[in-house]
Amino acid sequence: METKYICSECSKTHNISASLWRCDCGGLLDLLFEPKLTKNFISDKHQGLWRYKAAFPLEGDNNIISFDEGFTPLSEIIIDDRKILIKQDHLFPTASYKDRGASILISKAKELGVKEAVEDSSGNAGCSIAAYCAKADIKCNILVPSSTSKSKLFQIEAYGAKLDLVPGSRDDTAEAAYKHAEVKFYASHVWNPFFFHGTKTFAYEVAEQLDFKTPDSIVLPMGNGTIFIGAYIGFSELLNAGLISKMPRFIAVQSANCAPVYSKFKSLLPVSIKETLAEGIAIGKPARIKQLLKIVEDTHGDIITVSEGELIDSHKLINKMGYFIEPTSAAVTAGLRKFIKSVPSKEIIVSTFTGHGLKAAGKATYLTE
Ligand SMILES: Cc1ncc(COP(=O)(O)O)c(C=O)c1O
Ligand SMILES: [Zn+2]
Repeated sequence: METKYICSECSKTHNISASLWRCDCGGLLDLLFEPKLTKNFISDKHQGLWRYKAAFPLEGDNNIISFDEGFTPLSEIIIDDRKILIKQDHLFPTASYKDRGASILISKAKELGVKEAVEDSSGNAGCSIAAYCAKADIKCNILVPSSTSKSKLFQIEAYGAKLDLVPGSRDDTAEAAYKHAEVKFYASHVWNPFFFHGTKTFAYEVAEQLDFKTPDSIVLPMGNGTIFIGAYIGFSELLNAGLISKMPRFIAVQSANCAPVYSKFKSLLPVSIKETLAEGIAIGKPARIKQLLKIVEDTHGDIITVSEGELIDSHKLINKMGYFIEPTSAAVTAGLRKFIKSVPSKEIIVSTFTGHGLKAAGKATYLTE
C-alpha cells in the first residue's frame, strides 16, 4: 500500500508532498504506514540505525542522508544503587538524539526534491536539521528562541544554516516558523511525521540490544514528545510484527516549571509556565498533546515532574560519574531517580542521555561550584 499522510483530527488522507505540512482542518498529520517486518529484516548492508531501513517509509537507497549514526550503546549504569539501562544518545554526530529523526526526515526531503527547508527548535533539533541539510545540500533556515544556549546557536551557524533568533518563548518561535512553512519545506520535528519514523529507531535498537526482550518501563523526556511518540511507534510496530511480546510502560518526565501534559493528565488546573534549565523540554503548548496522553494511558504509564533543585542534584551526580550530559537530560535522570523508588528491583528500566554536556555548558555553572 502506498504511504500516505493521515490527519490525526479528521482522518482525511493526503498524498505525500513537500508543501503539505498540516491538514486543511489544521490537524497534525501522521503516516499511514506499517512496515512489513520479518525475522531477518535487519540489514547487514547498512550501519547504525539504517540497519532498520526495511522499517522506514522511504523509496530505495539513492537519497539516504546519513553520517552512519545510531545504534548507540545501551549501558548498564548504577544510579542510587539500582541498575538502569541507559541509551547513550548524547553520542550522536550532532550530540543529541534528534539525529535519529533528522536522518530519516531529510532523506525524505531529498527524495521529494526539496531545495530549501525551515525548522523551529529549542536548539538541538535545529542543530540536527542544519547538519543533515548541509550533507544533503539543502538550503536551511533555523528559528530558535533568543535565550537558547550559545553553543547550540554556534553549532547551527557552523553547519551553514541561516539562524533567526526569536524573542519570547519557544512557543513564540513555533508561531514565527508557521509563516515560513507556507513557502518552504517545513522540516519540523513536531509536525512532520517522517521525523517520528526516525526517532522510532530508539525502540528498535533497545529491542535488538535486549535480544528482543521488552523492558518493563522506559523513562523518557517530554517536551514536544518526539522521542516519546517515536519510541511508541517503534515498539508498536515490533509488537504488531510479533517480534516482541509486550509494550513497555511509558514514563514521561516534564519540568515542574513547564508541565502542561502533566497538568492535563492529573486533571489539575493549568499553572503558569516558568523558566527552566531544561530548555529542551520547555514546551508550553505541545502540538501533539492528545497523542502524548493516549500513549501514557494505553501503556499504563505515568508522568513525573522534577524541580530545578532535583535537576541540579541529578546533573551533578551523573556528571561526577563521568557522563557529560546537558541540563535537559539531567531532568530525565532526576525523574528516573524518583520513578525507581516505586518499582520492584527485578524490573528492567531503560532510559536515555538525550544531549551532550558541551551543548549547554554555559548554563550549568553550578556543576563546578
Ligand atoms: C537534550 C534534549 N533532551 C530532550 C528533549 C526532549 O524533546 P521532545 O520531548 O520534543 O522529544 C530535547 C528537545 O529539544 C532536547 O534537546
Ligand atoms: Zn484534518
